[in-house]
Amino acid sequence: MFQEISHPLIAHEMGILRQKDCPPALFRQSVRRVAALMTPYICESFATSAYEIETPLETTTARRLQHDVVLVPILRAGLGFLDGFLDMLPHAIVAHIGLRRNEETLQPHTYYSNLPLAVESAEIILLDPMLATGGSAVEAVKQLRDAGAKNIRFACLVAAPEGVAYFTKAWPDVPVHAAVLDRCLNEKGYILPGLGDAGDRLFGT
Ligand code: PRP
Ligand code: URA
Repeated sequence: MFQEISHPLIAHEMGILRQKDCPPALFRQSVRRVAALMTPYICESFATSAYEIETPLETTTARRLQHDVVLVPILRAGLGFLDGFLDMLPHAIVAHIGLRRNEETLQPHTYYSNLPLAVESAEIILLDPMLATGGSAVEAVKQLRDAGAKNIRFACLVAAPEGVAYFTKAWPDVPVHAAVLDRCLNEKGYILPGLGDAGDRLFGT
């Protein structure tokens, strides 16, 4: 399943952060707002359970999320995408996977992994602003599955059609939610029109 979350507020933010002279501070703020705007759509099917509470006037039934939520940013750029999700899901656990794409082969290389033990029943949201060839996201899901994760969703800011096709073929049961679907990849594996290198834009490198 692939969802492009078309929303006027997201479209407005994309116009800001795609511009090449948008400085890192503004870029980070804008990415954070987009992440927060995406969260309700991504969590729409989360299960809730009923419990009793006392209001100042009477007893009533409230609802709470049934399962732990684990946010998994793919380092490094995923870190810049994390804060907006944490704004909306402050109780979430954060686990990390470090992947770096080889600039010539475009193959992902893992340099860090810290996944919690109790992932089986958790709702996992894998985070990376860019879905380009799809190699990094496909590898990250493999690591999550190897760790026992079952309920995984992948959230990105910008997706390329090539990456969506590769990912959904590899993991047909993992929904992909993107703020926008762009046109294509260039010969160096960058998304067009895109926003450049997300990690560099977030961290000013
Ligand atoms: C970028 C991006 C994704 C990956 C996407 O990370 O954040 O992780 O490329 O490309 P793919 O879909 O072709 O795998 P990069 O490897 O540049 O590392 P960084 O986040 O440290 O900048
Ligand atoms: N990674 C990025 O940061 N940007 C792209 O366009 C492709 C991969």
